[in-house]
Amino acid sequence: MRVAVTGAGGRLGRALVAALAEAPFTGLSGPIAWTRADFDLDAPEAAAALIRGDRPELVIHAAAWTDVDGCARDPDLAFARNATATGVLARACATAGVDLVVVSTNEVFDGERSTPYAPDDEPRPINPYGASKLEGERTAAGAYAGAQARLGIARTSWLFGPPGNDFPARILAAAERARDAGEPLRVVGDEHGSPTYTHDLAEAIIELVSDGDVGGIHHLVNGGVTSRAGWARELFRQARVAAAIEEVPAATWTRASSPPLRAVLAPTPLPSGEPMRPWQQALADYLPTLLRQRAAAAR
Ligand SMILES: NC(=O)c1ccc[n+]([C@@H]2O[C@H](COP(=O)([O-])OP(=O)(O)OC[C@H]3O[C@@H](n4cnc5c(N)ncnc54)[C@H](OP(=O)(O)O)[C@@H]3O)[C@@H](O)[C@H]2O)c1
Repeated sequence: MRVAVTGAGGRLGRALVAALAEAPFTGLSGPIAWTRADFDLDAPEAAAALIRGDRPELVIHAAAWTDVDGCARDPDLAFARNATATGVLARACATAGVDLVVVSTNEVFDGERSTPYAPDDEPRPINPYGASKLEGERTAAGAYAGAQARLGIARTSWLFGPPGNDFPARILAAAERARDAGEPLRVVGDEHGSPTYTHDLAEAIIELVSDGDVGGIHHLVNGGVTSRAGWARELFRQARVAAAIEEVPAATWTRASSPPLRAVLAPTPLPSGEPMRPWQQALADYLPTLLRQRAAAAR
């Protein structure tokens, strides 16, 4: 099967390309990696010609403008990149009879309730990033209405993984700065989610694809729920970093975008019946890579 990935240079895109290269169904030529040079969200009209030229049978749309504060400062650009561009890509795929998986986010929900969100719960985004991603889901669904090909929406949350500059990398750097300044490290204690390893998410998407079960809305997250502070604490325990954490509310810092405080996704079943593993185990797998990345950056 010929599978193309948009945003192939991004955090999830890299993991998808690596996992698809190992998947038996992508054949000898492997996946088709579309970086920003091939498919730029600011020039999405390129999609139709790209599909004609590369002839994918499935496209996984991982490209997005993921700078949530940037999206809040420029909501029009957020909609152009995350909604309009997704719609253009979806129409090109649906017209060509190509299946599409759109990667989306837990931030389509308001995070105001205490129980996890199922795929058919009513979305209500509270920031422009979430609103633009939800509109991307909806424009894609519109493009596939009545189409022969299938559309899957894969929502996820709190991604971590190479090449760095993710929450684990940033919190390790912050802990170092706090230690040098002789201050406690202040970490948000009232924002909850499921940290999800890009490698595991890529494998889960591949499982859905290889089972031919990609259509519909999927909630794909590692097992377990924690706060930002809980995530930091577990990371420090695993990395043997001694750091005193002071839990503070998310409202402590003024940001352009407000995160939903409890937009926790209820995981949907995978074809194997096995849930994605707990986030702590995934973090332990990632740790050696994370520490190597930090060492390389320090050189
Ligand atoms: N990160 C999270 O915690 C998280 C949580 C839930 C859902 N998601 C969703 O998961 C997907 C993958 O996220 P990610 O963390 O892998 O994001 P990322 O690392 O920021 O990657 C985004 C990709 O989009 C590409 N892109 C193409 N055109 C762009 C444009 N005009 N402006 C900005 N970027 C453009 C980027 O290209 P360059 O490589 O050239 O920059 C990059 O490869 C996205 O759909 C995101 O909404 C992410």
